[in-house]
Amino acid sequence: MKAVILAGGNGTRLYPVTMTLNKHFLPVYNKPMIYYPLSLVMLLGIKDVLFIVNPGDLENFRSLFKDGSHLGMNIHYRTQEKPNGLAEGLILAEDFIGNDNILYLLGDNIFFGNDLIGLMENAKAEIEMNGGSYVFGYYVKDPHRFGIVEFDEEGNVISIEEKPKKPKSHYAVVGMYFYDNKAVEIAKSVKPSKRGELEITSVNEEYLKRGELKVKLLGRGFAWFDAGTHDSFLEAGEFVSTIENKTGLMIGCIEEIAYNNGWIDKDQLVKLAKPLKKTDYGKYLLELAKS
Ligand code: DAU
Repeated sequence: MKAVILAGGNGTRLYPVTMTLNKHFLPVYNKPMIYYPLSLVMLLGIKDVLFIVNPGDLENFRSLFKDGSHLGMNIHYRTQEKPNGLAEGLILAEDFIGNDNILYLLGDNIFFGNDLIGLMENAKAEIEMNGGSYVFGYYVKDPHRFGIVEFDEEGNVISIEEKPKKPKSHYAVVGMYFYDNKAVEIAKSVKPSKRGELEITSVNEEYLKRGELKVKLLGRGFAWFDAGTHDSFLEAGEFVSTIENKTGLMIGCIEEIAYNNGWIDKDQLVKLAKPLKKTDYGKYLLELAKS
């Protein structure tokens, strides 16, 4: 399985902050927003990642993540000329994906919860064994903002709609999608929605039509943030700060994960930590290297 992380878009819901700066570089507490989705890819043991970015942001992404070898990874980039919608990322990623299955992540989504990685591993195994698609639902108060999934009494999915005016449920589809290789062809067949975007929800709808969409609900033990608005961005930062300060452990610390995965050794970890040594982030990494 390969991972694709969407990190383009205009970030208009965070204006004026994002008028000159791409939102994925903004700090969610002590690290750039984009570290969080990347950390999930790493925790799942996936080394091959493609970032979809705006042409004007490519240089910054490259200077942040380079080719990934300092983390023991292979990091690639593709530019998206305009934010034509989430499904376009699948088309742009076609040659990178090749014949593989796909973990498709939104760059502004942040997850935290007990055994989140266990759930992701199950989804990955399901796709590798049976194909199709596997997504997660999360209860939200404001369903008109999201892709919304409706269930029948037996818990079967009966519809999925993007930002419905009259939502049929309160379950949002979160920005973490597991797809088999067909997703690329499906994305190519998607027509622009009323707002002119190639919607990821249309891809999911096609899987639903084929009887190949699995939805697993994330329960009360999970926190999920779509950090793309002023309030949710602040909320995500406060959440990360509270958890990290309470537990003494970091969320989304990519150097730590690379080290724990055995993708980099102690010397490499120290090398990554040194330029950050004035911060608690750097001190945390140096402490880790001592243990
Ligand atoms: O956060 C979950 C929701 O994300 C889902 O419930 C919706 O079904 C899905 O459409 C999406 O809705 P948003 O309106 O929140 O998507 P947004 O425009 O914020 O874009 C999500 C991420 O993808 C963000 O990191 C920017 C990036 N992006 C967005 C577009 C439109 C791209 O890289 N390219 C694009 O063309």
